[in-house]
Amino acid sequence: MNDNTAAVSEIKRLLGESLPLAYVRSFGCQLNVSDGEKIKGLLRKMGYGFTEDESEADLIILNTCAVRENAEDRVFGIVGSMKKLKELKPSLIIGITGCMTAQSHVAEKIRQSYPQVDFVLGTSAISGLPKLLLGCLNGERFAVDISEYDDFSEEAEQVRESSFKASVPIMFGCNNFCTYCIVPYVRGRERSRRPEDIISEVAGLVRSGYKEIMLLGQNVNSYGSDLGGDMSFPQLLRRLNEIEGDFLIRFMSSHPKDASSELIDAIFECDKVAKHLHLPVQSGSDEILHRMNRRYTAEKYLGIADEIYRHDPDFSLTTDIIVGFPDESEEDFQATLDIMERVKFDNIYSFIYSKRTGTKAAEMADGVTDEEKSRRMRRLLELQRGISTEHYKRFIGKRMRVLVDDVSKKREGFVTGKSSEFIIVELEGSSSLIGSFVDVEITDAMNWAVIGKII
Ligand code: 5AD
Ligand code: SF4
Repeated sequence: MNDNTAAVSEIKRLLGESLPLAYVRSFGCQLNVSDGEKIKGLLRKMGYGFTEDESEADLIILNTCAVRENAEDRVFGIVGSMKKLKELKPSLIIGITGCMTAQSHVAEKIRQSYPQVDFVLGTSAISGLPKLLLGCLNGERFAVDISEYDDFSEEAEQVRESSFKASVPIMFGCNNFCTYCIVPYVRGRERSRRPEDIISEVAGLVRSGYKEIMLLGQNVNSYGSDLGGDMSFPQLLRRLNEIEGDFLIRFMSSHPKDASSELIDAIFECDKVAKHLHLPVQSGSDEILHRMNRRYTAEKYLGIADEIYRHDPDFSLTTDIIVGFPDESEEDFQATLDIMERVKFDNIYSFIYSKRTGTKAAEMADGVTDEEKSRRMRRLLELQRGISTEHYKRFIGKRMRVLVDDVSKKREGFVTGKSSEFIIVELEGSSSLIGSFVDVEITDAMNWAVIGKII
């Protein structure tokens, strides 16, 4: 028995029949959400049940994100407000996990300013949770474990939120060091999971009825480069595509510098792989891309988009864009608007640049005011609204296969889902369709969704 299983058994014994409740909230990217599901997997083993209501929780875990400052501020705000909960229930245990904790200045701030926090657990150190928790249950005041990642944490079982959509991390960490990004500092270097583990996990999920598998990694295109070259990401896609069953394969994120023709061919040759690629461009200016250390040019990016549209003009591309990188000029920004107009993304996720202590960009001079950055953001969003409105019309009269995932919040008697292209589709139908694929014909388009009729 290792330390971890011993601590799990000890907690189980301590908790007895009491069925305490845990509230676990994850912020940020899907990898973090999947870490949150692993934390829940461990807690379940220890005898915890779960609640969505923090006021009835015996244990609160905030699984944090450090990518932008506003995500951190939100967590500090929430932790602050939890002081009251602790006063009402002194036995309440509060823990902070995730990327914020991997920055020593943040861990120190938590220790000094938020005495209501009982423990801090580092990203990728999830397997340390039972020991920390045991210490807290035994009355230890402030415990910290921000040790390096370990295999157990990465292979831990997830308690999945959905019964038909599953995320499957295929690799952890990042080697790219984009100059604005904190991820390589808080999640370490790239580590790929073994292909046989991924394939058997996906096969198991499909056997138990999952319809959508989302493969996750900071840059899935470099999957396998640390495994001695036996399996590349396109090869992994082909292997997963051979698994029997009716299911859809998605993946994110892809780095444009590694988006090869081999990848594009695999996407089009694998019938289970979605007709959608999320390919973060970040900026349309070669000067800014260079200073971001992205290692591609706008032309190279446009070449990838062209190659994809040659295969299928209806294919869907989405992207991430950073507005207001240090000293971004009006011309640089205009180049971003230009690339948006040329590629015609179906959707963009745009962020105002946020300075992250410890990154290279944090040292760069920045003469652009906050007002100007906000103004650029509004211009960018307005342009995208127009592009989506026009571009979504290409689907009218066409067929789409939709995985229904919820009832519509906008229309009575409608449900909503995502097409293979990752477009939101609203269609008339009852909640009994949730979790199944339906074929629809598209009758109308808006700038955020299309309307379909079941065929
Ligand atoms: N400021 C703003 N956006 C950022 N992103 C990453 N780091 C920062 C930062 N410091 C964005 C990038 C990335 C997405 C996940 O978050 O666009 O693709
Ligand atoms: Fe951050 Fe760049 Fe790595 Fe993405 S590829 S996680 S933006 S460093």
